[in-house]
Amino acid sequence: MGVVWAEASSFAAGVVGFLDPTESARIRHIHAPHDQALFVAAAGLLHLVLGELWGTDPREAVVDRTCRACGRLHGKPQPLVDGWHCSVTHSGDLVGVAWSRAGAIGLDVERCRPVDLEELRAALTDGEFTALASLPSCSLEAALIRIWVCKESVVKLTGEGLAGMRGFSVPVTPAPPDTPGRANGPGLDQVRILDLTPRPHYAAALALRGSPTLANSLTRFISPESSSSCGRSGTPGHDVRGLRT
Ligand SMILES: CC(C)(COP(=O)(O)OP(=O)(O)OC[C@H]1O[C@@H](n2cnc3c(N)ncnc32)[C@H](O)[C@@H]1OP(=O)(O)O)[C@@H](O)C(=O)NCCC(=O)NCCS
Ligand SMILES: [Zn+2]
Repeated sequence: MGVVWAEASSFAAGVVGFLDPTESARIRHIHAPHDQALFVAAAGLLHLVLGELWGTDPREAVVDRTCRACGRLHGKPQPLVDGWHCSVTHSGDLVGVAWSRAGAIGLDVERCRPVDLEELRAALTDGEFTALASLPSCSLEAALIRIWVCKESVVKLTGEGLAGMRGFSVPVTPAPPDTPGRANGPGLDQVRILDLTPRPHYAAALALRGSPTLANSLTRFISPESSSSCGRSGTPGHDVRGLRT
């Protein structure tokens, strides 16, 4: 189990060659260049990470992206090797990939921005709304972004998507560092949520089943310049070695 992060603007060009034909075709339907870079960087990072974990060329480390709502290839990515799970997220200039062999996983990141409590009303349970409304205004903004990523990480674990946000609750304030919070809702008994801080001005959360051993210290940031040597799969310039340890 682990999480890796990269900065899309500097990372995308180096990994675009890892994408499979369906992913390459999807780029053409994304109009804004920055959104294209986010998609390419996230998809390329996923190939790179799975390639390292499986000991294969990143181009051969493919996932099924079939959307369970409409059948198109923009859904929750599912590794094609049995027993593996992954999740992909992007916001601002950051992309993240999480993987697990211990059950489904959900990762979400958001660049911090002003959010209004009413904006999130539809995603919150009544209990969450009341608890947030009672927070002092100085801590409310951070709490809103945090609860958003926590809840989104859970619906990315289940694959349900944003429509499921009101069907469960999460703690309104963070647990102590590296201590998982609990999701509270039908079918979520085993789901735990970890607050992550990949970069200043970004909030992130990882939802997973069971008892996580993952901590912020086990997450990693990958930059294109971080290695001049080749990884197992012969990909120069990306130090993803040792992810399996
Ligand atoms: C999944 C969802 C919560 C992600 O929201 P977002 O704001 O785009 O957030 P992120 O950047 O963190 O995540 C995007 C990634 O989630 C993954 N994803 C897509 N659908 C997913 C799902 N149902 N469950 C988990 N992950 C999903 C993809 O890898 C996607 O990355 P990509 O666009 O590079 O392929 C949101 O898109 C959603 O609710 N989707 C499901 C329902 C829906 O609207 N379907 C529309 C098409 S029919
Ligand atoms: Zn769809």
